[in-house]
Amino acid sequence: MKTIRVSIKANRYDIIVGKDILSRLGPAVKKLGIGTDAFIVTNPLVRRRHGAVLVKGLQRHGFVTHIIEVPDGEKSKSAQVAFQVISRIAAKDIFKKPFIVAFGGGVIGDLAGFVAAIYKRGIPVVQVPTTLLAQVDSAIGGKVAVDLPVGKNLVGAFHQPRLVWSDAAVLSTLNQRQIRNGLAEVVKYGAICDCKLFDTVVAKQTALLRGDSTAFVSVIATCSRIKADIVVADEKETQGLRTILNFGHTVGHAIEAADGFKHFQHGEAVALGMRVACNMSVRLSLLKEKEQSAVDQLLSDLGFPRKIRSLRLADILKSMRHDKKFVSGKKSFCAFGTDREGQDCRRGIDVNYRNGNS
Ligand SMILES: NC(=O)c1ccc[n+]([C@@H]2O[C@H](COP(=O)([O-])OP(=O)(O)OC[C@H]3O[C@@H](n4cnc5c(N)ncnc54)[C@H](O)[C@@H]3O)[C@@H](O)[C@H]2O)c1
Ligand SMILES: [Zn+2]
Repeated sequence: MKTIRVSIKANRYDIIVGKDILSRLGPAVKKLGIGTDAFIVTNPLVRRRHGAVLVKGLQRHGFVTHIIEVPDGEKSKSAQVAFQVISRIAAKDIFKKPFIVAFGGGVIGDLAGFVAAIYKRGIPVVQVPTTLLAQVDSAIGGKVAVDLPVGKNLVGAFHQPRLVWSDAAVLSTLNQRQIRNGLAEVVKYGAICDCKLFDTVVAKQTALLRGDSTAFVSVIATCSRIKADIVVADEKETQGLRTILNFGHTVGHAIEAADGFKHFQHGEAVALGMRVACNMSVRLSLLKEKEQSAVDQLLSDLGFPRKIRSLRLADILKSMRHDKKFVSGKKSFCAFGTDREGQDCRRGIDVNYRNGNS
């Protein structure tokens, strides 16, 4: 079991990464003293696959558990579903000390975290991420949100979890497309600041694509450490540091939006975005061609496409102009690269993108 301490001033918390640790959540939560009643927000699929182990583990340590199921999928990240969840908690929350357990992928983490942020002006939330994407990314950092019909994540808050409990064993029930979805973020961390991680993904790609939990423990712990360090340095994205995590996301988000969030998974769009960012970096002489090739090759080996055939470039550029990070007619573009020869692997650039002409 690996422990990563997130030392945010207002709320210090740990990220625990291990294998077959789901049943051991109870004592860790008990130590935190955050409440008596666990409101477990999840969806039917995750509950069916892994719910019993989690629930028994909490009950064994004296917690009263209430399961709140929401339908699977992004559509549950809505204000309506959030208020339904709140109503169900409120109905059972009489003279109780409630806390929320967000048990699922990024959708559940964002929704349940948002509920925890606003119910009674904030109650504790424990993140128990069950997808690779959620374990390496969305469960860490305190960004919680629901979507509006006009755009994703438009209503949200910063609400740090009291604990993140990442069990690599639950990844064994993910399908390969979902594993690959999370691997795009892992490649991102390797490219922006950890050559060793990048090389590990190259070396262990077959085991990782298979969902091998032993191979995943150290990868998830490394990614969690990287994200935690960046979040501690720039919790609310005011210092410009957290922007480094957007590598591949400028174009990635635009692809997802132009596609209407239908066919591309987030990681697939980000993988294409990383290819574009690396390409730009080479053209701007900020990245060596061989480093670009290494990223391109790894993405291809992991099964990410090189080209998009189903979308028009004009639509992608149009989506980019509607991105919420598009400020004063300028698009702040992040392009980063690995540098195996230099001392410091972390570097970045902002390219201003004006009026659709890049
Ligand atoms: N808050 C943040 O910082 C942040 C960062 C990145 C992404 N996100 C959000 O995360 C969401 C995407 O998350 P996601 O990719 O995890 O998608 P998801 O939560 O929809 O999960 C993907 C699918 O996997 C299923 N699933 C979950 N765990 C499983 C398991 N162990 N075995 C089998 N199936 C399982 C889910 O039921 C779902 O069908 C988006 O809404 C995105 O906006 C948030
Ligand atoms: Zn992402």
